[in-house]
Amino acid sequence: MIQKILKKKNKSKIVCLTSYSKNIAKEADKYSDIILVGDSLGSVLYNYNTTRKVTLSNMIEHSKSVRLGVKKSLMVVDMPYNTYGSKSLALKNAKKIIKETKCDAVKLEGGKNILEQVKFLIKNKIPVMGHLGLLPQTTKGKFKSKGKTIKEKKQLIKDSILLQDSGVFSIVLECVKASTAKEITEKLKIPTVGIGSSANCDGQVLVTDDLIGLNDTKIRFVKKFINIKKYLNVGLKKFATEVKTKRFPLKKHSY
Ligand code: KIV
Repeated sequence: MIQKILKKKNKSKIVCLTSYSKNIAKEADKYSDIILVGDSLGSVLYNYNTTRKVTLSNMIEHSKSVRLGVKKSLMVVDMPYNTYGSKSLALKNAKKIIKETKCDAVKLEGGKNILEQVKFLIKNKIPVMGHLGLLPQTTKGKFKSKGKTIKEKKQLIKDSILLQDSGVFSIVLECVKASTAKEITEKLKIPTVGIGSSANCDGQVLVTDDLIGLNDTKIRFVKKFINIKKYLNVGLKKFATEVKTKRFPLKKHSY
């Protein structure tokens, strides 16, 4: 499955969607190459102000549900903050995630600082997706785009090559300046998957709840492709009205 993702480089765009549960995963799976169980679930589902609060068991429980809906896409699970601080910790937790969720790969945030862990996981046959640019797990304060200064650009290019050479099969680029994302994508043999990093990447990822309008968010890079809330409200309101006016349930709904 990873080979299929690698072969898309310079041929066709990679579609990546997030999912936190079975029913969304089942639908997203029809259109995506990669389903990511992102630790964004912390803010989207639990209202956490930081993904640092997401636990390993949060990720495992949601991923188990997602697994039930994913049939054809590559399933990647985010390793949460504080679960890959050392080589041995990373391996212990990645093994637990893979064993319990049956996912195909894990994603870790960072570059040079997590290289030893990345190499160790790959040496132990655990496929890894990288994540560079804006790193929500370790960013303190306001989220800002990356790769705007020469220094940042050089660092991002360096980190992306280091990750590639360590064996990651793909790298998420979050909020990276378009020209920097272009340079990284052109330099790498592995595909980049962008979020807020322009069309210059080999693929795109968005948080599904954002793109369907279920999650209220006003981030520049999010496009609302449908307002699912509108449809949800039609159905929920209808149910409430029919219960109140005693039009539901009918005899045929009863035993
Ligand atoms: O946590 C997440 O959903 C992510 C994507 C936004 C790339 O890491």
